[in-house]
Amino acid sequence: MKIAMVGAGYVGLVSGVCFSDFGHTVVCVEKDENKLAKLRDGQVPIYEPGLDQLLEKNMAGGHLSFTGDLAAALVDADACFIAVGTPTRRGDGHADLSYVLESAREIADAMPEDLVVVIKSTVPVGTNRKVAETIRQQRPGAAFHMASNPEFLREGVAIADFTRPDRVVVGLESEHAEAVLRAIYRPITSRQTPLLVSDPETAELIKYASNSFLAMKITFINEVANLCERVGGDVETVAHGIGLDSRIGERFLNAGPGYGGSCFPKDTIAFAQTGRDAGAVQSLVEATILSNDQRKSAMADKIIQACGGDVRGKRIAILGVTFKPETDDMRDAPSLTIVPALQAAGAQVVACDPQAAHEARDMLPGASWSNGPYEAASDADAVVILTEWNQFRGLNLAELAACMRGTTFIDLRNIYNADEMDAAGLDYWPVGKRPSLS
Ligand code: UDX
Repeated sequence: MKIAMVGAGYVGLVSGVCFSDFGHTVVCVEKDENKLAKLRDGQVPIYEPGLDQLLEKNMAGGHLSFTGDLAAALVDADACFIAVGTPTRRGDGHADLSYVLESAREIADAMPEDLVVVIKSTVPVGTNRKVAETIRQQRPGAAFHMASNPEFLREGVAIADFTRPDRVVVGLESEHAEAVLRAIYRPITSRQTPLLVSDPETAELIKYASNSFLAMKITFINEVANLCERVGGDVETVAHGIGLDSRIGERFLNAGPGYGGSCFPKDTIAFAQTGRDAGAVQSLVEATILSNDQRKSAMADKIIQACGGDVRGKRIAILGVTFKPETDDMRDAPSLTIVPALQAAGAQVVACDPQAAHEARDMLPGASWSNGPYEAASDADAVVILTEWNQFRGLNLAELAACMRGTTFIDLRNIYNADEMDAAGLDYWPVGKRPSLS
């Protein structure tokens, strides 16, 4: 099939590259000149493991290209995917649809007969119809078809999530659109991946409900972790114990400093707003948003408590600042709340992160940076694991303790355990378990 992909960000670039790897011919449209130049040069402007090789292979294969000219991308296209950003609109929490509607108008001006316009961006319920209306107004009488095709990609594992998804969801109301999307996804749905066909609103709801439920599941175990720290109990064992119930499932029950990223925070807010506007308040999602926001500042208090209640003049090493490992994405990362709170309490923060330093420096003013965990820990009164990068999973704790000034180790991802901390003479503060003071 011939596909135009509007937007070459986290979603559009992964989707476009993977579609071209399925054998389709893909033209990605990117308006940002710098990004476009990098992409045309075979460089990937984001950090996503494996994407650079896949991009290079398919550009060399001649069925993946990049342009700033949407009309050119639409020549003979069977489908045009809209994968532009839908950030949270300042003030009212709604998703900002300006980029989506701007793309729709440009598509309308240049679309070929019977084009299938597919919305892949995460958009509030009803957007599919709004885009259809925008196109109709722009090109009265033109024949085109609409579809919604939400993505469920996790950063850091986006290629695996795209090529081996749990399901493909398409919301549409035309046989032609269904035929085209079935043809586009045939390389994966032929391997028994279910393709769920619904109306547009249902597909839009599935995306928001899915992310909101996952965010709620994480927040649930984070609140259970708070209880474990007070009444005793081990949150990892609680998570394992409840997760063995197949109706609950073990995944997404790792207690931590709270969720971040470009999706959960904005999607929960947009979903809650949709509920409010529709008169169907999503009270559990609203409670999730509140709880998660409070957790990030509560983590700073936990660190201060672990340092004896006062961090003035103390040096605190933060290992990991991105919202999760295997990404350079800092959007809504817990570090953006935790580090300033520690600095406001008088601490001197030194951070290290395998991927984020270049972007994070400006986002964490006043923090100093080091190239590795041992350098960050030297002369530190406390070490904090904030993001569970593999580079922090096999630390030589005796060596780390030897270069520290203090003995406090706060593990907000429960990578380590009390015995190995005790052996290294370190005071261990995990999440959802009692601290173990050597
Ligand atoms: C998420 C959804 O998983 C994905 O399906 C959707 O398309 C986009 O949003 P992403 O935000 O990339 O993907 O990362 P994810 O791995 O889901 O983690 C989100 C946040 O939750 C991270 O801050 C992570 O640290 C946190 N998390 C995740 C936990 O705290 N505990 C967990 O058990 C899992």
